[in-house]
Amino acid sequence: MLFLDPDNGIDLHPDASRRRSGKHVTLNEIAALAQNGARSLIIYHHQTRAKGGHAAEIQRIIEALEGLGGGRVTAIRARPYSPRVFFILGPHNEVHDALTSFAAQFPEVYENHAAQGLQKVAVAERERHGFTAVPLTLYPDMFPGPLGHSMAGRALESGTWSCAPVQIRHFATDKHRTVDDTPAGGGAGMVLKADVLAAALDHAVAAHPGLPILAMTPRGTPITQARIRQLAVGPGAIILCGRFEGFDERIFEARAIEEVSMGDIILSGGEMGALLLLDACIRLLPGVMGAASSGDDESFENGLLEYPHYTRPATWEGRTIPEVLRSGDHAKIAAWRKLQAEDHTRLRRPDLWERHIDARARPASGARRTEKD
Ligand SMILES: C[S@@+](CC[C@H](N)C(=O)[O-])C[C@H]1O[C@@H](n2cnc3c(N)ncnc32)[C@H](O)[C@@H]1O
Repeated sequence: MLFLDPDNGIDLHPDASRRRSGKHVTLNEIAALAQNGARSLIIYHHQTRAKGGHAAEIQRIIEALEGLGGGRVTAIRARPYSPRVFFILGPHNEVHDALTSFAAQFPEVYENHAAQGLQKVAVAERERHGFTAVPLTLYPDMFPGPLGHSMAGRALESGTWSCAPVQIRHFATDKHRTVDDTPAGGGAGMVLKADVLAAALDHAVAAHPGLPILAMTPRGTPITQARIRQLAVGPGAIILCGRFEGFDERIFEARAIEEVSMGDIILSGGEMGALLLLDACIRLLPGVMGAASSGDDESFENGLLEYPHYTRPATWEGRTIPEVLRSGDHAKIAAWRKLQAEDHTRLRRPDLWERHIDARARPASGARRTEKD
């Protein structure tokens, strides 16, 4: 990750020779440093007196950075020093998530423009159509698949979300409708063609403006519940589902696509991954889980795994429900559950536990607490 501190900030001229001063960084320089979306950048920008005001300027820069194809863009503006903005560009969701949640802790100091600026188009899309899932796939019949059942199925019927799969093959141009070709340099398998993918993607973007574009790929940023929550408040998602050996790399250079992994496993295609991701989003849509459950208590929501559950009968195969859960003492029950959640996380997911205690130990300033604190 690089932090760029160019004193005056970003110069929107795409041509470096036309930069306003040596104290600016140009889009070309940002694109080169972003290494086609392989690296995350945090870029300081000092706002100008450009027409339309600061919010409009931030929006223009967000759009310009998105156009570089370097991945997701977040903009965090320091309110008390209103000319100061930090743009985060890059494929690493954990960087966006960490800075977004840091900023969210201090709403009087920071405002998150990517969240607000999730472009007016996106907000309008969500208002008009609810949450829209647009999988780009060679197997459109796989959708909604399991999401046509149970809670997600009822929400689909009621119009809370909709599913509009796009058949990638329709965008092939030869008479055989070819979507893949052999890998350059040799090797096994086939690769999805960039020109066909781009045509399908451009069609989807035109039909569903403002939707974030994701691609299912094992090399992507592992999906998190925090990212799912962000997607679930947005207009939906266009999801590229790979097959064979995957995508021609140039699609990631030419379009702003967030690469998402569903874990360190290899699926036979992106469709299953897309279904998982959509299921996780859909259950969070308003009204889907019903008033009784907000989902706030689930594993990962507070950085911990969930505590264990029990239900009747009180004794089964000689095993009795823990006494405290039958005590009716809500404070004791809450304390027991917290302890169980912590124990389970520590033993089963040391990685989560490490992050959890790290976050707990870190005071608002970002420095570690001392023993005395
Ligand atoms: C057989 S896989 C290709 C694997 C690829 N050659 C590699 O080694 O990374 C075919 C497609 O399944 C999807 N896929 C497989 N595993 C995935 C994972 N863990 N997360 C997200 N998508 C995955 C991707 O869309 C991928 O293009």
